[in-house]
Amino acid sequence: MGFVKVARVSEIPAGTMKHVEAGATELCIANVGGTFYAIGDRCGHENARLSRGSLMDTIVTCPMHSSQFDITTGKLMSGPVLELGGLKEMFTGCPDKVKKAVALMFEGIAEEQRLIKTYDQPVYAVKVDGSDVLVKI
Ligand code: FES
Repeated sequence: MGFVKVARVSEIPAGTMKHVEAGATELCIANVGGTFYAIGDRCGHENARLSRGSLMDTIVTCPMHSSQFDITTGKLMSGPVLELGGLKEMFTGCPDKVKKAVALMFEGIAEEQRLIKTYDQPVYAVKVDGSDVLVKI
């Protein structure tokens, strides 16, 4: 497949991202200072939609566990942050036996999360044609 129109330039102001779909491909399109980039929109950790995260310069931060990717290369810059501390606090007033069971459960979840490899994002060529943003699929 060649370049396909995925959005209008006006839909993605500088410093923002947009989720688009081209066939079966989900893309995160970002406008970094007037230059458009596209990476896969399913996080290389557990598939969260990256376009719902944040964009700081060229770094996209995943909304689910905060992995960071460079939008220009798709490279993983930092892995997931797996914090369950806030949930543990919900059990503060519970009997020790319950707190211990909850702590063990959270440790097990955190360990399983740590074993999940986080992959780089696929990168797609982008060009602007007049008022349209096109991506090579
Ligand atoms: S799904 Fe993106 S960091 Fe976990």
